[in-house]
Amino acid sequence: MKRLSLRILFLACLVAFASAQSASDVIAYWTDYNTTENGWTIPSFCAAVVGGKPLEWRSKYGWTGFCGPNGIQGVDSCGKCLNVTNTATGAYETVRIVDTCGTGGLELDLETAFKPIDTDGNGIKQGHLTVDYAFVDCDADDVPDATDVTAYWTDYQPSQNSWEIPSFCAAAVGAKPLEWRSKYGWTGFCGPVGPTGVDACGKCLKVTNTETKDEEIVRIVDTCGTGGLELDLETAFKPIDTNGNGIKQGHLIVDYKIVDCDDDAVLVYSQ
Ligand SMILES: *[C@@H]1O[C@H](CO)[C@@H](O)[C@H](O)[C@H]1NC(C)=O
Ligand SMILES: *[C@@H]1O[C@H](CO)[C@@H](O)[C@H](O)[C@H]1NC(C)=O
Repeated sequence: MKRLSLRILFLACLVAFASAQSASDVIAYWTDYNTTENGWTIPSFCAAVVGGKPLEWRSKYGWTGFCGPNGIQGVDSCGKCLNVTNTATGAYETVRIVDTCGTGGLELDLETAFKPIDTDGNGIKQGHLTVDYAFVDCDADDVPDATDVTAYWTDYQPSQNSWEIPSFCAAAVGAKPLEWRSKYGWTGFCGPVGPTGVDACGKCLKVTNTETKDEEIVRIVDTCGTGGLELDLETAFKPIDTNGNGIKQGHLIVDYKIVDCDDDAVLVYSQ
């Protein structure tokens, strides 16, 4: 009995998680980003987050503006991908979120996203499609955003300070619950690629020690002035300094990649 109810609870959690990341029968209008004419320049809404990505990344998938009912919202959705299915024909595709919208659904780029799934031509006639969408990970085996970056250490002593967010990021994420603040090791961020200033606060990086290949996910909680990273000594620097060379030299050489912190999952499972 107990085992059965646990299993039902687990399934309920999975369903809650899945439904939070997808939606059915959503209206998808089209818009014309003129991607090739504009050199795949990321629209201003998402420019600070993913505008610095290489052309290969920006042009890998068709584009969409996103303001759908479920899933990651606002600038946090920039760069994420959706699997979008035309409910009328079953045609589907992966598209990248590069903008917001005001229609409560999607705004698919005409040439790169709308027409490819408007396989019966009814979408263009009616001015919109009805679609299902689901967030998908389209960058799983992506290359790092920045390579051979210097990562110094700094000692934030988060556990001694109740994981109180440093002042630079306090206004942005200082009010997050302890579970969120302590979920990952901490870093100051002033790297060459990625969000800048307070826009970086709360975002996550996958950091790889180029010498040992150890990797970890860390959370940006501060800025820095070194053009790279300042990893918290205990929660972020030592965990990937597995051969001790970093602490000897005073820094590590790392690759990093901006990744999804998976914060939605925490919220669902902690309910
Ligand atoms: C795209 O091009 C068309 C015509 O060339 C123009 O009317 C429209 O404003 C352009 N849109 C964007 C977002 O640049
Ligand atoms: C996208 O959705 C379709 C069903 O609409 C499914 O068949 C396909 O496997 C999905 N693709 C991905 C990458 O999730």
